[in-house]
Amino acid sequence: MARPSDIIVIGAGIVGCAVAHELARRGASVELVDERPVGMGATQASAGVLAPYIEAREESPLLGLTIRSLDLFDDFVARASADGGVAVPYHRTGTLDVATTDAEMRALRAQADLLSRRDVPAILLDRAAVRAEEPQLGDGAIGGLMIEAHGFVAAGDLTRALVAAARRHGAQLIEQRRVRRISGRDGDIVIETDRGSLTGNAVVLAAGCWSGGVAIDGITEPVPVRPVRGQLLWLAWTGTPLRRVTWSSRCYLVPWDDGTLLVGATVEEAGFDERTTVAGVRDLLDAACDLVPRAWTAGFRGARVGLRPATPDDLPVIGPSRAMPNLMYATGHYRNGVLLAPLTAQLLADAMLEDKIDPMLSAVSPSRFGDL
Ligand code: GLY
Repeated sequence: MARPSDIIVIGAGIVGCAVAHELARRGASVELVDERPVGMGATQASAGVLAPYIEAREESPLLGLTIRSLDLFDDFVARASADGGVAVPYHRTGTLDVATTDAEMRALRAQADLLSRRDVPAILLDRAAVRAEEPQLGDGAIGGLMIEAHGFVAAGDLTRALVAAARRHGAQLIEQRRVRRISGRDGDIVIETDRGSLTGNAVVLAAGCWSGGVAIDGITEPVPVRPVRGQLLWLAWTGTPLRRVTWSSRCYLVPWDDGTLLVGATVEEAGFDERTTVAGVRDLLDAACDLVPRAWTAGFRGARVGLRPATPDDLPVIGPSRAMPNLMYATGHYRNGVLLAPLTAQLLADAMLEDKIDPMLSAVSPSRFGDL
């Protein structure tokens, strides 16, 4: 692609904001457009857990992508925070993955083997050791695996920092505009919205599970991204906080500096229904109280919901369109939008501004789903 200078990024979730910041700081002129305020899609319900070795439990392209992105995270947060002037809570205190059945314990042993083959520091814990590591665990805990490299970040603050940082580098944020169509016209790209059109010479589609709803000239089958609902609870903890992100097969718990605890998350095929539900809240409360009984004494601050953008193979869609010149995809990040944001931004900016095509892009190419 000839180096584009005017780039329109569709979608102001964490991925779109990371891409906008990276392009703007490397000198492109960027417009970031969304119907909703910044970070109000899947990002609003993210607990911000950064855990490649839990999200991808075996050797896979997802593992490779998430590990590489986690390696970028220190610099990514520091730069967004410094450029944007927004403090971003971020901790690399590890995860404790708790087993409550023999089958889960066997899976943790297999995971420990994989980590040891990769020289990743991890500690396999028996019943007594896991309780010593986290004294607040319930009686059901029979063992655990501690992975030190993992962490968590305040996804909302990070997204706000990225937008502020992008704007400091000249990007424009255009809110309350629903993008309807992307067309090519005389070498330019025209974005039709419900309130007028925008023109640039390249576009990045980063609209999460709404990406398939944007019509694109010449493309009959849209990018296959579907919504997978995630509900999340926000609790006010009392007493000693949990030491780190604590995970079970039914929920994960994220302890924040301000004494609150996030409990994530349901995984539901509910179409575009963005409601929190009684069933979702009850399942998460049960799971949290079984894992750490002290959760019964917590205050209830609220429930959040977001629609994760999932693809048929659970891998994101990142890279150039085969059907429309100067259209790039950055969508379908499913459970790992926050974790994969820095790598997505870097790979796209390298491809768009420096013509550098990273070999990793082949696994996430839009063309695996046809002529997109
Ligand atoms: N990243 C965890 C989740 O999507 O629930």
